[in-house]
Amino acid sequence: MKNILVTGGAGFIGSNFIRHMLSSYSYNIINLDLLTYAGNLTNLSDIEKNKNYTFVKGDICNRNLVENLFDKYAIDTVINFAAETHVDRSIEDPDIFLETNVLGTQTLLHAAKNAWKENSEDQYSRTFNEGVRFLQVSTDEVYGSLGEKGKFTEKSPLSPNSPYSASKASADLLVMAYYQTYGMPVNITRCSNNYGPFQFPDKLIPLAIRNSMKNKCIPIYGDGMQVRDWIHVKDHCDAIDKVIHQGVIGRIYNVGGNNEKTNLEIVKTILDYLNKSEDLISYVKDRPGHDRRYAIDYSRIQTELGWNPRYTFKEGITETINWYLRQYP
Ligand SMILES: NC(=O)c1ccc[n+]([C@@H]2O[C@H](COP(=O)([O-])OP(=O)(O)OC[C@H]3O[C@@H](n4cnc5c(N)ncnc54)[C@H](O)[C@@H]3O)[C@@H](O)[C@H]2O)c1
Repeated sequence: MKNILVTGGAGFIGSNFIRHMLSSYSYNIINLDLLTYAGNLTNLSDIEKNKNYTFVKGDICNRNLVENLFDKYAIDTVINFAAETHVDRSIEDPDIFLETNVLGTQTLLHAAKNAWKENSEDQYSRTFNEGVRFLQVSTDEVYGSLGEKGKFTEKSPLSPNSPYSASKASADLLVMAYYQTYGMPVNITRCSNNYGPFQFPDKLIPLAIRNSMKNKCIPIYGDGMQVRDWIHVKDHCDAIDKVIHQGVIGRIYNVGGNNEKTNLEIVKTILDYLNKSEDLISYVKDRPGHDRRYAIDYSRIQTELGWNPRYTFKEGITETINWYLRQYP
């Protein structure tokens, strides 16, 4: 592994991942990002001058651009973070979710296959250049919703409920199709809800922190009893690092934080830490099709790759709240 194409690297998880990789290895990182409302280059201002880092503004759906990047930078690894990610926005306007999350992933897969496959004229050849790999960053939301008990394993059926999760599940199917049909070296990671620094403030935790700081109402959908498994973004980055280096080709890895919390508990924890009144909580009409519970069995990555989340929720959320306090005084 030498030249890594990271897509969506100006977003929340991608920017944390680039920082992690540049501080751990001497690989060249090429960050392809369209800079949508969710992408922000200030997320990477501390590393923009790093000699191993290149930023390219552009769309993963742009085939010419993507193919040129494979040529120009001799890309041998792709980590696809680029996506439209907000469930509410996908309910309002799904089109862009299908374009970026499905067709964009297909464009990347196609370019990777053409760049990496040996004997590219022979459609039956399944030989790829040594050491290449395509990692799709997916989500536990592709599995749909759980009842009060049980956890998603990698064998759980795909049962997405929102346009966002349906687009992510579609992309996962395409990635596995490239593995089955062409023998392309791929992996998929399916992670639970991330929190930590550099998250766009339309998501629950940054929204709750920033609204509390300004004594503004914090909207909570329905009864607030929706359960999510929360993981610190640095633990997620660490898991992706493990999978690109040691993951078994063709395998899907669930990634979780072993930390189930209701949305209400999350908001109350933040209010409590900031010494704010629970009167700031404002219950609003529930999101249509809102999944009730996610929980993730990540024993495969634990036993096969020796990965475990390192952050406890208490230390992770404390660090995160303090980061937002410093960032937006
Ligand atoms: N945030 C989570 O809790 C979570 C959990 C599991 C999986 N994921 C997955 O991780 C990935 C990153 O999530 P995030 O929370 O960092 O998202 P984000 O919304 O913060 O960032 C997405 C990035 O992708 C870029 N982008 C969007 N469309 C693009 C396009 N067409 N071409 C190039 N770049 C484009 C945006 O500019 C932005 O920088 C996504 O694929 C998401 O599905 C997120």
